Amino acid sequence: MIKYSLLFICNFIFVVVLSQSQASIVLQTKNTHLVLTVGNNHRLYQSYLGARLTSPGDLEKLSGGREVYLTGGMENQFEPAIRMVHADGNPSLELEYASHTTEQKENVSYINIILKDPVYPVKVQLQYRGYFNEDVITCNATIQHHEKKPVRLTQYASSLLHFNAGTYWLTQFHGDWAREANMVDEQLTNGIKNIESKLGTRTNFYQTPAFFLSLDKPATETSGELIAGTLGWTGNFQFTFEIDQRNQLRLRSGINPFASDYTLNPGELFTTPEFIFTYSNQGKGQASRNLHRWARNYAVLDGKSPRLTLLNNWEATYFNFNETKLIELFDGAKQLGVDLFLLDDGWFGNTFPRDSDKAGLGDWQENKSKLPNGIGRLVAEATKRGIKFGIWLEPEMVNPKSDLYQQHPDWILRLPNRAVHLARNQLVLDLTNPKVQDFVFSIVDGLLTKNLGVAFIKWDCNRSMTNAYSAYLKEKQSHLFIEYTRCLYKVLDRIRARYPHLPIMLCSGGGGRTDYGALKYFTEFWPSDNTDGLERIFIQWGYSYFFPANTMAAHITSMGKGQSLKFRTDVAMAGKLGYDIRVNEFTPQELQFSQEAVTTYKRINDVIWQGDLYRIISPYEENRAVTMYVNDKKSKAILFNYILNVRRKDIFTRVQLQGLDAQKKYRFKEINLFPGTKANNPDNDKVFTGDYLMTVGLNLTPGKVLSLTSNVYEITEE
Ligand code: GLA
Repeated sequence: MIKYSLLFICNFIFVVVLSQSQASIVLQTKNTHLVLTVGNNHRLYQSYLGARLTSPGDLEKLSGGREVYLTGGMENQFEPAIRMVHADGNPSLELEYASHTTEQKENVSYINIILKDPVYPVKVQLQYRGYFNEDVITCNATIQHHEKKPVRLTQYASSLLHFNAGTYWLTQFHGDWAREANMVDEQLTNGIKNIESKLGTRTNFYQTPAFFLSLDKPATETSGELIAGTLGWTGNFQFTFEIDQRNQLRLRSGINPFASDYTLNPGELFTTPEFIFTYSNQGKGQASRNLHRWARNYAVLDGKSPRLTLLNNWEATYFNFNETKLIELFDGAKQLGVDLFLLDDGWFGNTFPRDSDKAGLGDWQENKSKLPNGIGRLVAEATKRGIKFGIWLEPEMVNPKSDLYQQHPDWILRLPNRAVHLARNQLVLDLTNPKVQDFVFSIVDGLLTKNLGVAFIKWDCNRSMTNAYSAYLKEKQSHLFIEYTRCLYKVLDRIRARYPHLPIMLCSGGGGRTDYGALKYFTEFWPSDNTDGLERIFIQWGYSYFFPANTMAAHITSMGKGQSLKFRTDVAMAGKLGYDIRVNEFTPQELQFSQEAVTTYKRINDVIWQGDLYRIISPYEENRAVTMYVNDKKSKAILFNYILNVRRKDIFTRVQLQGLDAQKKYRFKEINLFPGTKANNPDNDKVFTGDYLMTVGLNLTPGKVLSLTSNVYEITEE
């Protein structure tokens, strides 16, 4: 006889179904069920993952499936979730269900499942978290043993998920410096496809650690069944998609085990990072909105708080500045009306002045000839002008031409008996060494203690790991990639313990670090050094699938041939707007436009930062891009319409808006117009029902369509 108990807590339900032969463990979010069952052989199976089943009776019927945390070395012939070589040399593991606990804390449900090897003293705890309202599930594992000697782990996934579909479609986001997050769709075929990084630092240089897996057909923005997945880990990652001879797909996610066998001591815990995913049967748009909400509520530092608009000096000056020049730039920030001035690279180094990227990195003292009165003076001058002051750091790195390198040549990752391999003339510090951790912490802490007014940091990381070897780790070289990331988190934990809310931008030679493991410490990230408006439409489009607009720094610079300031501004407004430009070179009209744009942005940015994103027309499909942000109450929306490089063949049809309330009435009004220009849309400033806007739609391109033009519309409930 089957016995089951239902536990109702607030709106949430845990269902624990118990029978003589099997127990079910059910994780439920608003629209999703993940059902695991224990078989007669005591192993744990994934019996269901998909749309929420509405009747508890249906849940009881689920059984069997495929093994949740498949082990290596026994009868399994496919990619395992875990592979271990025991102290006695036995290279196999068997995991049986031992027990589980469930807990509900408001919106989040927690399930911990203990699996044990019946022969060896090895325990694996699988941890699931369900974010009910956001429809997001995270999972990871903690591995532990009590053998007499260490065991060797050669695979240690965060999760393994199983799918049964006719066809499988993968969407990935790859790139390089200045061309990040290109979206590519492909059908998966039998065999293995990996999306991964082996770069250590600057780990997402070539690959964003995120994907869509669509089932049966490629999902669109508004239709199709898929999961969107990403890993919260600022290091080497791997997503393995394996289709077997029966067309079943296994999706393994976790740290990339490449060159990273891990020797686990008795009693030591090995905790994997979280695999984060959402299931949607309404296409990619819904999946993005789920992740954005989860990110703002739980994953990004201060995800619900306002961000600072800023003027950065990198593109405006590069390394060539001094105190006077910077203070002049402060005036530009004040004129624009932004909140903060961000001083970029080049402000430090004395024995080896940082006048180019060839020297000085590691010597974080103000350069006396550029800044004779130190950062303190800059903070004071900024404060006088009513703006805040922020500063660039690249604390994990060093130039050989630096005092730091000369004093601590052993603090560097470098191979013995081999030449050092420089990238951007620099080397990676050995963060696994506690002395290096103390140094990095002391740089940040010292700067903030000495200059109390520093209100923002840009934390850069301009190279990946090559020829990597840690003098500190000695014989444990295969721990290097993992330990580096763990130690980075240790340092960031210390910084956040002392400075819990200081806004810090995550940057890595453009978008080389874009993951939710890091974003719990950072308020935003720098998607790319490419700030050309046209290119940014695509780059921001790619990242927008996984990261909300308030995390995506988007600066207006002088990049972008043939693009008006208005076009570049409209593109930056769809993210976290900033400037990196010489304001004193603006024409009076450009200055007026930019001042008004900042004011407008400050008025509407809550909708962009906190609203739901609807990608309506893709630049991958047409020579235009249309996106829309809608606030929670559906009382306000901001629509961005970008025209790319138009060709004669292009026909731009009416655009049906999304995400509004059909019953409400809305005024449709163009904003952010350049001085002296008027809205040319006959529908401008008219009132429509939400139903009309979403069913009939509007013509967003009346009249002659010009390349590289754009409009921003504010849609407000009447
Ligand atoms: C990296 C960053 C840039 C800038 C430079 C400074 O390339 O992505 O924004 O800060 O470093 O050297």
